[in-house]
Amino acid sequence: MRTRAQWSLGLLLAVQSGQVAANSVPADMVGRMRGHKDTAVKELVAKVLPPVVAEAGVDWKLEVAEVEKKMKQGTGEAIFMERCAGCHKLFFKGGKVGPELTNYQRNNLSTMLTSIINPNAEIREGCQYYLVETKDGRSLSGFLVDRDTQVVVLRGLEGEDITLRVSEVKDMQAMGRSLMPEGWIDDLTDAQLRDFFAYMRISQPITR
Ligand code: HEC
Repeated sequence: MRTRAQWSLGLLLAVQSGQVAANSVPADMVGRMRGHKDTAVKELVAKVLPPVVAEAGVDWKLEVAEVEKKMKQGTGEAIFMERCAGCHKLFFKGGKVGPELTNYQRNNLSTMLTSIINPNAEIREGCQYYLVETKDGRSLSGFLVDRDTQVVVLRGLEGEDITLRVSEVKDMQAMGRSLMPEGWIDDLTDAQLRDFFAYMRISQPITR
């Protein structure tokens, strides 16, 4: 049976001769060989798998800035601003028609996709949009946020509350479907979808 040292030497020689690619040797194995008590192994590993020294002059901060710039250039945020921000707030931008998405579970892709692709699947309480006619002939609409025996409270698209006495209401009907348009992302290309959902899933805003 070969000893560990012989086995390591064999591997290192194979790397040296090019039979085994240096980058195919797992890092933890390289680490163990570097700490080997057999000096022959130690010397050979230092020679054929030298520790990667950060190249002089390469500034990782520059690289961070570079990657950040690419992310900002991605179209994800632009797509959100164009298609969703009219109704939803994410981070600090957007409207109040739909629920704010900042604290929504945006890392759960399948739930989020269901909500986006089929907004009518489940309309949450407080998100039912109602059309109301009053006895004095007014037509009003809004999300039903509260109703008791005395009053009906609708929330308009700007977030303003409209309180009506039940006795004023002549007719009241749920629209029965979400205000959120269906198929709203159907026309995005694969690349746009990737960018868009990369943006939707970030936990911190990139730009302000
Ligand atoms: C015209 C307004 C409108 C637009 C545009 C819109 N939404 Fe919505 N969205 C809503 C409303 C209202 C709801 C509330 C739930 C419902 O009606 O089903 C909602 C619900 C959601 C939900 C579920 C939220 C929750 O808390 O359950 C997600 C996620 C969502 N929208 C994402 C988007 C995304 C992403 C876009 C852009 C591609 C978008 N919406 C465009 C109005 C809109």
